Amino acid sequence: MEFKNLLIESSDGITTLTINRPQVLNALNSDVVRELECALYELDLDAAVKVVVVTGAGEKAFVAGADIKEMSELTSFEAHEFARRGQRLMLLINRMRKPVIAAVNGYALGGGLELALACDFIYASEKGKFGFPEVGLGVIPGFGGTQNLARLIGPNKANELVFSGRIISAAKAHAWGMVNEVFAQEELLPKALETAREIAGKGALGVAYAKDAIVSGLSMTKEDGCRYEASLFGVLFATGDQREGMGAFLEKRTAEFKGK
Ligand code: CAA
Repeated sequence: MEFKNLLIESSDGITTLTINRPQVLNALNSDVVRELECALYELDLDAAVKVVVVTGAGEKAFVAGADIKEMSELTSFEAHEFARRGQRLMLLINRMRKPVIAAVNGYALGGGLELALACDFIYASEKGKFGFPEVGLGVIPGFGGTQNLARLIGPNKANELVFSGRIISAAKAHAWGMVNEVFAQEELLPKALETAREIAGKGALGVAYAKDAIVSGLSMTKEDGCRYEASLFGVLFATGDQREGMGAFLEKRTAEFKGK
């Protein structure tokens, strides 16, 4: 499929997906949301893809939010649909078998921060800027931001960020636990790709099931989450990856995982 607003590059099991509307700071209009959903759905089905890195085109922005020009014309019903479609995209990222890393190279605001928060973890450059400006537009985050942020950093810090509409630095987002690591701008993608390669070298089924256990477990009681974890642990013992991983350890060689 051809994408008007995305650049997709794949090499050695890692796909870099770049949102490419730099003239509007990569704002998410309904076309971009649809393209992202289609692209990620296909990447999830592609056995050659082990890890996805999402970033924004240009030096200034990851994604500066949902497209305010397009949103300003929406009816209440259309806004509800727009939010549902944005949320479907974020849930797809949560449900994908492959890890998705956000490489935040500039503004990650509103829907852009929601996209980053839906990813499995966030790396940022020193130019990363994070915030939910929605209350200044008379609305609230609509792509799952209130839910994901409060779960990630706790309600008090989430309240301060969302109620004030303030934009915070990458350093503060790191201190608040939103961002795993902060790098110089030119180091951001190389570092994200380095981590992606490290993950891609592991058993893909183990990585996929670990993601499932963590994501699914967050909406379960701890006891149910542990029960689910034990089931996934057991299932992995029916795979070649488990035999290869443990066999390679015992034979003192590097494992060659096949993802089955
Ligand atoms: N939607 C549409 N266009 C946007 C945009 C957005 N979210 N963000 C930036 N742009 C456009 C600007 O309109 C401008 O276009 P023109 O050149 O045609 O005027 C271009 O991108 C460059 O932006 P600025 O000139 O404003 O750049 P700046 O450096 O002066 O400011 C900024 C940067 C602080 C990020 C500022 O652009 C800004 O505040 N953007 C809006 C951020 C925002 O409010 N995001 C939340 C949107 S609501 C949302 O996302 C809801 C949801 O949860 C689903």
